[in-house]
Amino acid sequence: MKTIEELAAIRDKMKSSIDLRSGSDEGKRVVVGMATCGIAAGARPVLNAIVEEIAKRGLKDVTVTQTGCIGVCRLEPIVEVYEHGKEKVTYVKVDAQKAVRIVNDHLVNNNVVTEYTIGNAK
Ligand code: FES
Repeated sequence: MKTIEELAAIRDKMKSSIDLRSGSDEGKRVVVGMATCGIAAGARPVLNAIVEEIAKRGLKDVTVTQTGCIGVCRLEPIVEVYEHGKEKVTYVKVDAQKAVRIVNDHLVNNNVVTEYTIGNAK
């Protein structure tokens, strides 16, 4: 059992990280499709690669979440990037290498990796 002081310290620490995330509309949200089809196609290493690259780069304004069925099994793994005031970008047939590039080009440098988007899918 933790002491009241320890619990208060944890609360304060968590509160500051929550404030960081909810404090702006400028943040980006990355959603990885983790339905069975996505997992079978390799979504787990993609999710790991995204989370690791974001941590490595120390990005604070990005949240990563998982979702279920996105509706296009044949294009999994699918990664969506949401940004306030911009159109959603859907990346398809993502692998761990592409995921790292999406983090670096799109999330860090604001350049959509057009060649990986759904518009270019075959
Ligand atoms: S089950 Fe594959 S996208 Fe819905």
